[in-house]
Amino acid sequence: MDLQLKGKTVFISGSTSGIGFSIARIFLKEGASVYINGRTEESVAKAIQLLKTDFPNGKIEGAASDFSKAEEVESLIEKLPEIDILINNVGIYTAKSFFDTTDDDWNRHFEVNVMSGVRLSRYLLPKMLEKNWGRILFVSSECATLVPADLIAYSSTKTAVLAISRGLAQLTKGSSVTVNSVIPGSTMTEGAEQFLLDLARSNKKTTSEVEADFFSEARPNSLLQRFASVEEIANTIVYFASPIAIATNGSAVKLDGGSMGGII
Ligand SMILES: NC(=O)c1ccc[n+]([C@@H]2O[C@H](COP(=O)([O-])OP(=O)(O)OC[C@H]3O[C@@H](n4cnc5c(N)ncnc54)[C@H](OP(=O)(O)O)[C@@H]3O)[C@@H](O)[C@H]2O)c1
Repeated sequence: MDLQLKGKTVFISGSTSGIGFSIARIFLKEGASVYINGRTEESVAKAIQLLKTDFPNGKIEGAASDFSKAEEVESLIEKLPEIDILINNVGIYTAKSFFDTTDDDWNRHFEVNVMSGVRLSRYLLPKMLEKNWGRILFVSSECATLVPADLIAYSSTKTAVLAISRGLAQLTKGSSVTVNSVIPGSTMTEGAEQFLLDLARSNKKTTSEVEADFFSEARPNSLLQRFASVEEIANTIVYFASPIAIATNGSAVKLDGGSMGGII
């Protein structure tokens, strides 16, 4: 299937590792130009170097910006070139009891997970509407509806982006711009791998055993019953960002392996 992404320019927030990095790889494979983002020049340069090894002719730029700092986001936006596809991927979480979660914790989660996408979309969506083409994807999480008790702040940000995404889609009526969100389930990033390794070590079990425990105890409705790979999530995100996905607009697409339950 030709995703018709050649010549498109993509900005992916939080893309020096994890799901974002995998999204960048797939866009490059499809012939798009990518803008990589992380908090520091060093991490961005390292990610670009890795990508250049696999895609020596790929068009890869970097833009360091910490989305917890509004002034850094402001200067990032000033430097952005024309962007066809915006992937609002950056997301942080801290597992904490609700009673220990401070105002600072709440604000940091909202700055990085919600305001990143709000600020980038406020700048880029009018330009997309003007040229009558564009794609915006928000990366939510199964936690948006599962709301684990130790992740209430994180989960709230992931529910918020669903509303923002739907609201922005309403502004695209009659155009060839779409705004959607995707809802991944538990995904095997470097962070998740470390989490399983630590748990396995402390419980004197194998990583397969602690992964099976996690799904039977914390994600009993999962039909996949394992972590999705970053590629399994990223492939779907790239599809919904492509020109051929024009019929999907204002949607929240579940990539949760069934963990959220229900039909839709
Ligand atoms: N992994 C999962 O199981 C899972 C499940 C559902 C949803 N999600 C969602 O999917 C998205 C990606 O998750 P992930 O697990 O791939 O994340 P991750 O591995 O923790 O992402 C790391 C990336 O985020 C960047 N980053 C972190 N804080 C940043 C900040 N303040 N400003 C700019 N960049 C920042 C890092 O950049 P540097 O280190 O270079 O600064 C790095 O590129 C998130 O929105 C997450 O909520 C993940």
